[in-house]
Amino acid sequence: MAQIFKPSANSVAKLTLISVVLGVPSLWLAIAGLSRSPANTKVDVPLNQPVPFSHQHHVWELGLDCRYCHTTVEKSSYAGLPSTETCMSCHSQIWTNSPMLEPVRQSYETNTPIQWNLVNKVPQFVFFNHSIHIARGLNCNICHGAVNNMQITWKGNSFQMAWCLQCHRAPERYLHENKTAEGQTPRQQVFNMYWQLQEHGLKDLPEKEKQLADGHFAGSDEAADLEAGKELIKKYGVHTQQLADCSVCHH
Ligand code: HEC
Ligand code: HEC
Ligand code: HEC
Ligand code: HEC
Ligand code: HEC
Repeated sequence: MAQIFKPSANSVAKLTLISVVLGVPSLWLAIAGLSRSPANTKVDVPLNQPVPFSHQHHVWELGLDCRYCHTTVEKSSYAGLPSTETCMSCHSQIWTNSPMLEPVRQSYETNTPIQWNLVNKVPQFVFFNHSIHIARGLNCNICHGAVNNMQITWKGNSFQMAWCLQCHRAPERYLHENKTAEGQTPRQQVFNMYWQLQEHGLKDLPEKEKQLADGHFAGSDEAADLEAGKELIKKYGVHTQQLADCSVCHH
């Protein structure tokens, strides 16, 4: 349970610390900061669900691939959510008496989809596309936080315009290739990180993969990383000139 509260508790603690250290003049800053705090944007706050589905169980401990449930994530703009049948492919045989799974059985018997509460949403006037980001090897955790650690899913980032632009203006800070996974396409590397995590645990991962698995990778400013990032931009043919144009995300 402690894990669930950790991230939000952290940022509240940070905010308090900042106010204490800087004193009264910082108060208005703290208030300004609050408009971006978890309470407003719901970042880092686990969202109640009809079934307490745990990514930590299913992804990290069992090693299920994201694509088993989010079947369209590498092919289309939407990742998609799993049908009840997907859950029942296992839960008609295991954990069949679990009270937590009662809503899943109900849904299956009555043929009514489970109403999951949506954690991530950009407004209608914003165009987003999963497949292109996955094709460029951008790990899910860069945007969604450490999904592999989530007992109840929370929102990993604000998804405000400035946040998207931070990467679109300088993708070399984020593009990354795992040299120990040679021969894999960038897309394969996205999912490989979770396999590595499941097989070898956090401490045996290469540094960047460790940061990704931890949900702490927020771009790099190290010269060597930027150089490597620029190489990847060339290799993938990313159109950096246009990437921050309004029409990319609003049409
Ligand atoms: C066994 C099925 C399953 C697997 C495997 C799985 N997920 Fe999920 N995922 C779900 C379900 C069910 C939900 C909706 C409930 C929730 O939000 O927890 C969900 C929700 C999400 C959401 C939030 C969606 C929203 O509402 O905005 C993200 C992000 C996500 N998953 C990412 C991942 C990633 C990344 C992986 C692989 C590392 C993964 N999932 C693997 C079943 C799965
Ligand atoms: C590949 C098999 C598999 C699939 C698919 C799967 N699960 Fe599970 N699930 C498990 C296993 C195994 C456990 C037991 C994990 C443990 O406690 O070690 C489990 C445990 C659970 C639990 C906890 C039950 C309890 O009483 O502790 C819930 C809730 C759950 N799953 C929901 C879901 C939902 C919802 C889906 C569909 C989105 C789903 N599962 C898909 C294998 C699966
Ligand atoms: C570049 C950032 C980014 C990356 C990388 C990313 N996502 Fe998302 N994801 C988003 C955004 C933004 C939304 C909200 C989309 C919307 O509202 O249309 C979202 C929504 C979702 C949803 C909710 C359902 C849906 O399709 O809208 C799921 C599930 C999900 N992502 C899973 C994943 C998985 C799994 C991966 C990795 C394989 C992944 N995402 C990688 C940004 C990202
Ligand atoms: C970590 C970096 C990163 C983040 C964060 C990110 N993007 Fe991207 N985005 C990229 C890259 C790289 C491309 C690929 C451009 C290319 O290959 O030409 C891309 C492409 C796109 C495209 C173009 C798709 C197409 O078919 O041409 C859209 C639209 C887009 N992103 C929207 C968004 C939105 C909206 C957000 C925030 C919710 C976001 N992106 C966050 C890196 C990012
Ligand atoms: C990489 C994607 C991306 C690009 C490029 C982009 N936007 Fe946005 N924009 C967003 C997202 C995401 C939101 C929704 C923010 C939210 O929900 O808080 C947004 C929201 C907005 C809004 C609504 C007000 C607000 O700030 O929430 C306006 C107006 C806007 N954008 C104008 C522009 C203009 C003008 C440009 C070009 C200079 C531009 N955008 C470029 C992603 C983008």
